[in-house]
Amino acid sequence: MKRNHLPHYSDHKWPWPLLSLVASALFLLLILTLTLSHGRYSDASSSTARDFYGVHRDFGGGDGNARLGLPKLPRLAYMVSGSRGDGSRVRRILQAVYHPRNYYLLHLDLEASDDERLELAKFVKSEESVIGEFGNVMVVGKANLVTPKGPTMIATTLHAVAILLKKAADWDWFINLSASDYPLMPQDDILHIFSYLPRDLNFLEHTSNIGWKENHRARPIIIDSGLYHSKKSGIFWAKERRSMPASFKLFMGSAWVILSKPFLEFCVWGWDNLPRTLLMYYTNFLSSTEGYFHTVACNHKDYQNTTMNHDLRYIRWDTPPKQHPISLTVEHFDDMVLSGTPFAHGFAKDDPVLDKIDEKLLRRSRDHLTPGGWCVGKPGLHKDPCLVYGSPNFVKPTLNSRRLEKLIVKLLDPENFRVKQCK
Ligand SMILES: *[C@@H]1O[C@H](CO)[C@@H](O)[C@H](O)[C@H]1NC(C)=O
Ligand SMILES: *[C@@H]1O[C@H](CO)[C@@H](O)[C@H](O)[C@H]1NC(C)=O
Repeated sequence: MKRNHLPHYSDHKWPWPLLSLVASALFLLLILTLTLSHGRYSDASSSTARDFYGVHRDFGGGDGNARLGLPKLPRLAYMVSGSRGDGSRVRRILQAVYHPRNYYLLHLDLEASDDERLELAKFVKSEESVIGEFGNVMVVGKANLVTPKGPTMIATTLHAVAILLKKAADWDWFINLSASDYPLMPQDDILHIFSYLPRDLNFLEHTSNIGWKENHRARPIIIDSGLYHSKKSGIFWAKERRSMPASFKLFMGSAWVILSKPFLEFCVWGWDNLPRTLLMYYTNFLSSTEGYFHTVACNHKDYQNTTMNHDLRYIRWDTPPKQHPISLTVEHFDDMVLSGTPFAHGFAKDDPVLDKIDEKLLRRSRDHLTPGGWCVGKPGLHKDPCLVYGSPNFVKPTLNSRRLEKLIVKLLDPENFRVKQCK
């Protein structure tokens, strides 16, 4: 990824594609003022205009923020992972969560064919596409073998984080998505709300009250053959069981995480031995992704206070919970929207509810990118409004951001926030 491809617009630079279209700066100013006050999507469909609120925020380099008194927009680093046959789903998720400010790392595991990986790489590198022009999407070429529930999953996540730390230094949060996840709001909404959050916050749903998991997770010893075989053959159990750890406390929770850059540097660089020791401990732990980051954060004084006990995902379980969460359908749509979470898990491939999310929440047409303040083209049935783009520092939040705001405010409430940290 060429990082200098990412333009760092400041607020005195106009969206350059427009420059070639209009002759005088005055005219440009007029157009800009009009779009500022009305919202560009007012002609897209009947319901869009009223769903956008607020003014066009420009979070440019420094001046813009200071002048408007608004916090700086963050950058997000996404990992989207899939397996054999997931290429088209990963591509759809990328289009749905794409924003030029962010970074994306796509990983199709070793089960997927090289052709699938190549096709995905071609798609993100294509010089004609907007994604290719911004150059902020990477595809892992040398894929990892991933055993579900095995430590190879954590290794893959840490590998992705290390690549993102090396190739793209300036992001704030890492977000992990699978091929069966989907966003419930445009990136503009997430960037807008996250701009108000302290950059060291980690979204980790966790508890030390692990109940039945003590017997099913903490005591068994597993071995992931994916660590030393090149074909997936799953995990196996050792006859021995081990006792509960004494030198640290176990925490478990949701495998879906949103982690801060400072915390991930702590985990990857390993200047303190805790993340490394725990990584070795978790090598023989069933479903290590449900506990590794949680246990690291909660056992270190510098990170205990940065945990938010929520994963910001909409996930539904059967009662009693089965091995996999409920597959979400149109029936869950209203509840998903009300939850205020920015993402949901899990959807069946091409489930009709995804079309509904595209239409109602993301306002994205098939094969187009999710529009945001940076897309300045005229929306049309066959034309992607993001083919003409302006400053990635313009975000235009929709009503969804208010739901996310409400959720975050609730989570940050003194009765909720501190008292639920590492308990
Ligand atoms: C990340 O997402 C995947 C889905 O691809 C999930 O299975 C995994 O457990 C998640 N968490 C981590 C820490 O890797
Ligand atoms: C974390 O929060 C607790 C309680 O608010 C406080 O006593 C402690 O000093 C904090 N730790 C750090 C490292 O900031």
